[in-house]
Amino acid sequence: MKNSIIAIFIILGVGAVCLVSQAPVAAAALRSPAWIQAPRGKSIYDQNCLPCHQQDGGGVPGMNPPLSKSPYVQGSTTRLIHILLQGLNDGVDIEGETYSNPMPPFGTTLKDGDIADVLSYVRSHFGNKAAPVSAAQVSKIRQGLTK
Ligand code: HEC
Repeated sequence: MKNSIIAIFIILGVGAVCLVSQAPVAAAALRSPAWIQAPRGKSIYDQNCLPCHQQDGGGVPGMNPPLSKSPYVQGSTTRLIHILLQGLNDGVDIEGETYSNPMPPFGTTLKDGDIADVLSYVRSHFGNKAAPVSAAQVSKIRQGLTK
């Protein structure tokens, strides 16, 4: 009997320690939805964009433009979503450097939610501080393309 009472106290104690140690994590998650979104956006970025735009979003001079200091990334979300869905072959000028390689489209390989997450990640990393993109925004633009 005495042993089982001790056991119950140990279990309660461990439980309390777990709760207390998780509290800051839970609080951070409630404060910023980006905390939940970022890991998913990052893994989509690592699999689909990193080979060209690099780990730090710095791109490759003369070949793949940077996603840092880019007006395309922090500017119009409509233009940005179009680039992801359809690719880009217009040539871009960023920070005095011209890029003319084509970017492949991701409209068939990535779902609306994937595009929203990866764009939200890119818009909040590499020195960028722009608002996230929602799956509904991507879906609206995708529908406009197929009409
Ligand atoms: C095969 C290489 C390649 C891959 C993979 C790739 N891009 Fe690009 N990206 C480019 C190139 C090249 C351009 C410039 C196209 C042009 O000059 O018309 C570009 C342009 C862009 C631009 C507009 C210009 C700028 O630098 O801001 C954005 C935004 C962008 N890419 C985001 C992404 C995202 C997000 C992914 C992953 C889902 C991705 N790209 C995957 C090569 C790539």
